[in-house]
Amino acid sequence: MNTLKGTLVVLAVTLFFASCSSSVKITGEKPGTANTKGLKDYYKDFFPIGVAVAPRMLHGEDSALIVNQFNSLTAENAMKMGPLHPRENEYFWKDGDSIAFFAKKHGLRLRGHNLCWHAQAPNWMFKNANGDTVTKEVLLQRLKDHITTVVKHYKDYVYGWDVVNEAIDDRENVFYRPSAWYRICGEEFIAKAFEYAHAADPKAVLFYNDYNTENPKKREKIYQMVKKLKEAGIPIHGVGLQGHWSVNNPSREELEKSIKMFSSLGLQVQVTELDVSVYAGRQGGQLIQGQRRDSASAFTPEMEEQQREKYKMAFDVFRQYKGKLTGITFWNLSDRYSWLDGRGRKNYPLLFDTNRQPKKAYWDVVRFDAAK
Ligand code: XIL
Repeated sequence: MNTLKGTLVVLAVTLFFASCSSSVKITGEKPGTANTKGLKDYYKDFFPIGVAVAPRMLHGEDSALIVNQFNSLTAENAMKMGPLHPRENEYFWKDGDSIAFFAKKHGLRLRGHNLCWHAQAPNWMFKNANGDTVTKEVLLQRLKDHITTVVKHYKDYVYGWDVVNEAIDDRENVFYRPSAWYRICGEEFIAKAFEYAHAADPKAVLFYNDYNTENPKKREKIYQMVKKLKEAGIPIHGVGLQGHWSVNNPSREELEKSIKMFSSLGLQVQVTELDVSVYAGRQGGQLIQGQRRDSASAFTPEMEEQQREKYKMAFDVFRQYKGKLTGITFWNLSDRYSWLDGRGRKNYPLLFDTNRQPKKAYWDVVRFDAAK
């Protein structure tokens, strides 16, 4: 009898503590684990937050972090012309499709990147059977075929496309980049690309996308080009600021000016490829001429501080321009891998460290006064 009583007391006490502990709220905010807030949640009243991915990241720990933190995706390479269209009569859909299916399955938005670019374009595009350069007519027809096929293929998955990427030159006295597209077609390929994309999916939001968009001279050229397209009735709806920035660039003023100028044309603005290189002097991912190929590769406290400042400033500005900005996308997920690695040194440009844990800059970005 006494033993039974004792057992009941122990049971009651156990149940009491069990019920207490189950009512304790999980307050730990550890990004990367389920049931915790992610970037997308902190920014739900502002804009979607995206990340550029490769198919290998759609499994395991990377995929858990993606789903926990982001509500938009871009294919880092899989939807570019070269990877997608390696030979004239051959498309390779597998990689792009795996990203599209993943996005659909998890309810993430998907940006299409990109339809026409001087880099990662297949060589066959510009050559005929004899190896000679094709005529403008042939090239525009091939561009049309490519854009029509790709945009229609991803119609139910992709809400908007970077239609033309990096058509403006960095040099002050050169307007258009002398790419194969430009050399063969002149500036007309730009308008045509937008028209082909619009015809293939009239609902898609169409962007011109470029880097160094905070450089006053380049910004002015982009502004003039986009204005001309708009005035000619070309279906262009947005400008993508790639956002390949560094610890010393851009300034708050220049960033604000770019957002204001492009949105003054009635266009939406997105930051499409955000990363903050810890090395000074980077320009759109390229080394500035004469720059040292620094072999140092540690993430120093000084780099960390400077990077925090830049991220904090950038997201302050982004929040301020809510409504004009319709998306912010990071170019890669964590410092474990970034396209900026290599060139003899490791970079640390993102908000998650090499162990996929949030860096201090992450907390700077998500801790803000929503009332401001
Ligand atoms: C980069 C990818 O991240 C790399 O993996 C690839 O080798 C080269 O292209 N601007 C763009 C992106 O618009 O498509 C580029 O992506 C980075 C610069």
